[in-house]
Amino acid sequence: MRKPYLAGNWKMNLELKSALGLAGALREHVGSRDDVDVAVAPPYVYLSEVIVALEGSPIRVGAQDVCDRTQGAYTGEVSAVMLKDIGCDFSVIGHSERRRLYGEGDELCNTKVHRALEAGLEIILCVGETLDEREEGKTETVVRRQLSEGMAGVPGDQLDKITLAYEPVWAIGTGRTATPEQAGEVHRYLRGMWAGLYNEQSATRLRIQYGGSVKPSNAKELLAIPDIDGALVGGAALTPEQFQPIIDSAS
Ligand code: 13P
Repeated sequence: MRKPYLAGNWKMNLELKSALGLAGALREHVGSRDDVDVAVAPPYVYLSEVIVALEGSPIRVGAQDVCDRTQGAYTGEVSAVMLKDIGCDFSVIGHSERRRLYGEGDELCNTKVHRALEAGLEIILCVGETLDEREEGKTETVVRRQLSEGMAGVPGDQLDKITLAYEPVWAIGTGRTATPEQAGEVHRYLRGMWAGLYNEQSATRLRIQYGGSVKPSNAKELLAIPDIDGALVGGAALTPEQFQPIIDSAS
């Protein structure tokens, strides 16, 4: 049975005080429970302090992105080795905001995947179609390409380090959530595709989060779908009042 995995992507929000306040509240709420995995992805500059604030708690801490290079003259970038060094557990890779606003393509995402795995980080790899792509009936083609190219060359012994996040771009920050049926259909497709790329066993273990306007009011019905194994939450992960009930809807 796959353990539900709820991650909060804080994006470029919060300040140090509010970030630590949120981390502290989540720490208290989650306690030592082990029936769900909970994670947060704060902005780079707050990672170290959030990691210290969550030391000894089962809440995992990761970065929202990672550089595709190992080290050197790459002004403004942060390497996977640095993230591992300060105690990060994972990195989000291929978020649609990186793809859409910063022009990141599948090849770049794939290089990032390799850098992160080499450094010993786990990964949340995001895939998802735009509204135009959905309306043109291209959802499966798009997520197939993002998954197969994003995962190219990843060895079998690393598969357990990968979580997928299906985030339809049209549902992110728009208040427009994919229906549980729409999301479930794509999750099923991704799991089937994973089984074809690798094997059934690994596909059965693979956790696929849904992301896009997840809120306390819709989390339960989304998480009730068999192939939806958790959520990658943006706006509603910024306050304990909203993120905690989402965590609780997984159990
Ligand atoms: P929202 O939950 O704000 O729609 O954001 C989803 C997301 O992009 C999480 O990575």
